[in-house]
Amino acid sequence: MKIENITKTFDGKVVLKNLNMEIPEGCITCIMAPSGAGKTTLLRILMGLEDADSGIVTGLAGKRISAVFQEERLCEQMTAVENILLVTPSLAVQTIRQELGKLGLGADDGQPVSELSGGMRRRVSILRALLAPYDVVFLDEPFKGFDYELKVQVMAYVRERTTGKTVIVVTHDIQEAFALDAGIIELRCE
Ligand SMILES: Nc1ncnc2c1ncn2[C@@H]1O[C@H](COP(=O)(O)OP(=O)(O)OP(=O)(O)O)[C@@H](O)[C@H]1O
Ligand SMILES: [Mg+2]
Repeated sequence: MKIENITKTFDGKVVLKNLNMEIPEGCITCIMAPSGAGKTTLLRILMGLEDADSGIVTGLAGKRISAVFQEERLCEQMTAVENILLVTPSLAVQTIRQELGKLGLGADDGQPVSELSGGMRRRVSILRALLAPYDVVFLDEPFKGFDYELKVQVMAYVRERTTGKTVIVVTHDIQEAFALDAGIIELRCE
């Protein structure tokens, strides 16, 4: 995936200026930069949710995209299983329950996700993204709010589950990049 000379401004404020970046396929890449540097904006451009003012992105045409957004995008009144089924209806409920269990969310007793903790909701979002059919998955600060042990557990799951896929993770934590065995790209604009 190649990003060439991407520029993006919001109301006259330049957020991304002549950004160039090459993201390798089939592995995990962490994108790192300070708050407000434009990481989420870049992901939104790559996902086609936002138009760049200029520049081109190549290598994404025809690719199936999946994502965990920085802010949760769950259907609040639905259960974890229902949220995942909504995105990938072909999944067997038993499979979903099994995968939920692997992330410590075994006891889906019909609770809507609005009643789950922040960390539980985050895990539902991650599972929903990773159980969908995709070629490229974008994870925007996916492990925020997890304690150390949970982080280790979920990162191991992400590594195992995404083998051979193109994974782009936005993070502020270099330790996460190391633990994910990921390539690191610092978001730098001219
Ligand atoms: N829709 C929008 N309208 C106006 N300004 C926006 C919009 N989206 C983002 N911005 C601005 O663009 C800049 C970059 O925002 P962005 O969310 O991409 O940063 P980020 O690197 O993801 O930050 P964080 O680490 O805090 O998530 C910010 O100054 C923000 O205010
Ligand atoms: Mg962001």
